[in-house]
Amino acid sequence: MPFYHRLGQIPRKRHMQFRKEDGGLHQEQLIGNKGFSGISSLMYHIRPPTTVTDYELVREVKLEKDPDARLRHRHFRLMETPVGGSPVMDRRPLLFNADVSSWWVRPEAQDDFFYRNAQGDELVYVAEGQGTLETQFGDLAFRQGDYVVIPRSILHRYRFDSEGREEGAGLGALLILEARGYYRAPRRYRNEHGQLIEGAPYSERDIRPPETLRTYDEEGEFPIVVKQYDAFTRFTLDHHPLDVVGWDGFFFPWAFSIYDFEPKVGRFHLPPPVHQTFECEGFVVCSFCPRPYDFDPESVPAPYAHSNVMSDEVLFYSSEEFMSRKGIAYGSLTLHPDGIPHGPHPGKTEASLGAKGTDEYAVMFDTFRPLYVAKGLTDYEDDTYQRSWLAVEP
Ligand SMILES: [Fe+2]
Repeated sequence: MPFYHRLGQIPRKRHMQFRKEDGGLHQEQLIGNKGFSGISSLMYHIRPPTTVTDYELVREVKLEKDPDARLRHRHFRLMETPVGGSPVMDRRPLLFNADVSSWWVRPEAQDDFFYRNAQGDELVYVAEGQGTLETQFGDLAFRQGDYVVIPRSILHRYRFDSEGREEGAGLGALLILEARGYYRAPRRYRNEHGQLIEGAPYSERDIRPPETLRTYDEEGEFPIVVKQYDAFTRFTLDHHPLDVVGWDGFFFPWAFSIYDFEPKVGRFHLPPPVHQTFECEGFVVCSFCPRPYDFDPESVPAPYAHSNVMSDEVLFYSSEEFMSRKGIAYGSLTLHPDGIPHGPHPGKTEASLGAKGTDEYAVMFDTFRPLYVAKGLTDYEDDTYQRSWLAVEP
């Protein structure tokens, strides 16, 4: 969500001498996408970001398709997956194609290393938990309901606040969409200057950039895990990587809460594009939020059956309620693939007549190319889902 932001100390002009107290030069680093022509930021380090003493392969993280190619509607119960591991290295693959891969993790570990994803921009939906994302751009607070967007190659580390978490529930639950493209507001929400227009479902005021820049002047051995080539490589840097004294630009991690999305309502049913939150290459992300229903006395608030041609539709249910579904629960993930129509479950259309509103929360991503189910996810599948539209289930 690019807009200009700055934190800490920066020199008056770009690429000019910027000295430390000891008389030495700060180390300037440009970071951004599309080489030197995409959005970028300039940051100023105490030490060069390049002094790597060691590097080694940790492991590969190749995506494998489930071998069962039968086309059908799918339902997975993500809250049945075990708790454990690192928030960045122990993610379970869910659905994927060439544009986006989705992952799920219920971490238990506070990482002692820093992480950088060099092969994709990450959108992290915080289903549970809260804490601070430590980054070279400063601390970014996150909490349940946040979309945290971490553009590729931004160094970071999760610091979960474990207070109040139930025994055995881990530190939180994250749904991650790793994209080949980059996340931004849909074009139609922005004017020719890039500003979010009146009538967009959120504004710049709702976008939270990093707030506090912490600068560590420490030498030592600092591990950094980088994801690239579908593998993790561990680098060792000879100083603390969070040694940035200042930065400015358009390239930084940011957060937007689903609770700050302003839903739109019509006299009759409005289609899912009104819920669109972000766009990216090859897919969109939408937020379904509590809202009053369509207000004509003869309106049908539940959606109509539809064939999402040239689009696969994925919903992550972040509350128990969803207006057009039954049998789903908090943490459910459904896939309605291209090739077969879907619609409200039996009784849901009638039940919606005259209803005043919904308290649902759900995150949807619609991909323009078909998604594959990752191998192993079927362990958490509700395989009755394809037949769940029958009035009497078998
Ligand atoms: Fe749908």
